[in-house]
Amino acid sequence: MTFSEKILEWYDENKRDLPWRSTRNPYNIWLSEIILQQTRIAQGTPYYVRFIENFPTVHDLAKAPEEKVLKLWQGLGYYSRARNLHTTAKMVVDEYGGQFPDSYKELLKLKGIGDYTASAISSICFDERQPVVDGNVYRVLARYFGIDTPINSTEGVKQFKNLARDIMHLDNIRDYNQGIMEFGAIQCAPKKPYCLHCPLHTDCKALQQGLVAQLPVKLKKTTVRNRYFNYLVVLDSSNQTILKQRTGKGIWKNLWEFPLLESDKELPINEVEKKLKEVLRLKNVTELYRFNEKTIVHKLSHQHLHSYFWIAKGDFELEDGISWTEIDQYPVPVLIADFIKTVKNLYF
Ligand code: ADE
Repeated sequence: MTFSEKILEWYDENKRDLPWRSTRNPYNIWLSEIILQQTRIAQGTPYYVRFIENFPTVHDLAKAPEEKVLKLWQGLGYYSRARNLHTTAKMVVDEYGGQFPDSYKELLKLKGIGDYTASAISSICFDERQPVVDGNVYRVLARYFGIDTPINSTEGVKQFKNLARDIMHLDNIRDYNQGIMEFGAIQCAPKKPYCLHCPLHTDCKALQQGLVAQLPVKLKKTTVRNRYFNYLVVLDSSNQTILKQRTGKGIWKNLWEFPLLESDKELPINEVEKKLKEVLRLKNVTELYRFNEKTIVHKLSHQHLHSYFWIAKGDFELEDGISWTEIDQYPVPVLIADFIKTVKNLYF
């Protein structure tokens, strides 16, 4: 028996009786799949039932007030999913006359429907040969074929999708797709898979090599650090300013910048004013305002920098002030170079 035949046989004997398994109506399948994203079947099923009771057809959902949709969604989290659900229902009614598109390609055009959902709906409702790859499928394939490519890498996504396509059951894609997901959820479970009684255990690479607990491999998403950079752009009576050289390790080492106040959130003007006095010992500041109304966000791989340029004018002469003609000689981060260019175009 092939891999896909074994999955089909296992599914036939072990499948749970779930309310959307007795229909091919794309509205029902779509609804179940959206609810089941990031939600386990046990938790999602009562929501599905309530949605179908309240909105038996896509027309009912489309004309419902948003608050009612959100209320029924309450407890599932990720509320943008509920809003997308509502938007898509309206789109199906307005642009498709209430009929869901009947192919993978067309389904992809709907809001909130990506590769997974389009594959699920087109295969379950229309028998289109499209393999589904969800978290369960990644786990089953990584273990059975002994693949350690990270499932959330670009390469991994491609590799698993190609493999899934190569081994799918062509004559019963509807049950096969649901079968491999169900198999991953119940038999090849994340924590305690039932390898002893598994119908695939004779050929499972992970089991043979003792790698069941190590697979699949997932890259840790590094958490993004948010940093708030408040640049103090001092202008004395002759419009001279101050630049300082960055020291230490880290980004922009040795580049020049306006005196920097780093904070862990946006700073109100009175905080900046206080720091001007404390850090730069500037007393006669007559004018202080934030130059950029909107935050300038600079995204690096592990950090997001939120920058603000504060203009501080005053009645004083800086000792080592830098003029706006000299300033271009200093190596500065692009973010600062852009700001300097803007100011020069505006004022100098
Ligand atoms: N998880 C999400 N959708 C599923 C389906 N149709 N069958 C089994 N598990 C699922």
